[in-house]
Amino acid sequence: MDIPSRIVLRRPDDWHVHLRDGAMLEAVLPSTARLFARAIVMPNLRPPVTTTKAAVAYRERILAALPPGLSFTPLMTAYLTDSTDPQDLKQGFEAGVFTAVKLYPANATTNSAAGVRELDAITPVLETMQAIDLPLLIHGEVTDPEVDVFDREAVFIERHLVPLRRRFPSLRVVLEHITTEQAVDYVRAAHQSGEQTLAATITPHHLHLNRNAMFEGGLRTDFYCLPVVKRERHRRALVAAATGGEPCFFLGTDSAPHPRSAKETSCGCAGIFNAAHALESYAAIFEQQGALDRLEGFASEHGPRFYRLPLNSETVTLVRQPQVVPQSLTLSDRRADALDAAEAPRLFHAGETLAWRVAVDG
Ligand code: NCD
Ligand code: ZN
Repeated sequence: MDIPSRIVLRRPDDWHVHLRDGAMLEAVLPSTARLFARAIVMPNLRPPVTTTKAAVAYRERILAALPPGLSFTPLMTAYLTDSTDPQDLKQGFEAGVFTAVKLYPANATTNSAAGVRELDAITPVLETMQAIDLPLLIHGEVTDPEVDVFDREAVFIERHLVPLRRRFPSLRVVLEHITTEQAVDYVRAAHQSGEQTLAATITPHHLHLNRNAMFEGGLRTDFYCLPVVKRERHRRALVAAATGGEPCFFLGTDSAPHPRSAKETSCGCAGIFNAAHALESYAAIFEQQGALDRLEGFASEHGPRFYRLPLNSETVTLVRQPQVVPQSLTLSDRRADALDAAEAPRLFHAGETLAWRVAVDG
């Protein structure tokens, strides 16, 4: 296939992003908002966003941090805990505050200590969500220390996701940031059997990296995220899923910035900051697969269809114009005083040349 010199796409959405709060929010929001029309905003702040009231306040802080001239809609999520009030979720959903609810198994990842300890304990919440058709977004890893860290997603599917979906057959579920062929197979099988209640997001980094990359030439802290990157076999299954045109797979960057000092230390945080070149990063994979014609479906169509939201009408253009990715996020003058420049998150693909560049059309 001839490679075009430009591709015009319907403006994409990011169905999984960490925008953080305070100075970090100020620093990272422009990267997401300049490209994506909407984003599902993760609620794992400290303290987490567990109520409608907290989500309304967080949404206001996001909108206040938005640079003038950018149109961007944050889609808010509630952080499930053992004591989530179903009535509050329902009210938040009916008031247009919540688009979805996020399940973190307790201690599975960054700021998940307040997550759900026992799935059975949240039955009334899941019943309510199923009844009002409020989607459940799942960080799909078991936290059982006996289970090898590379197996935690596959074990979660067997132990928890299969039984949960049997108990709540019409609850719509997104398995977030999938990393294994088991997840791909499970989501695809549900889709192929006609179920429209299950989908998965796929990150750019899980499409580019296998677990060797994390250790190449030394310990690459900037490639550490959760769920941790897996074997090459799994990466290939993810690439096939993302680029294959199936509507049950769509874009979710899981862009997860951390201050440099929190990541490059003896017990560094999980999370990769990829928002600054997210579409270019996905485009590289679609190009390798000869599937650039399917990028728009993955980035801009499958997600809204699953969430039952309108497709965006604006467009963005990807221009084939190589760019070298800087080492870390450049802070604009307005934000320079908010976040210490030494703490600016390192960029995914730092130092690499990406073949595409985004031009936002408006
Ligand atoms: C995320 C974070 O830093 O908030 N980290 C990550 O590695 N993906 C949490 C998450 O999505 O698991
Ligand atoms: Zn995440």
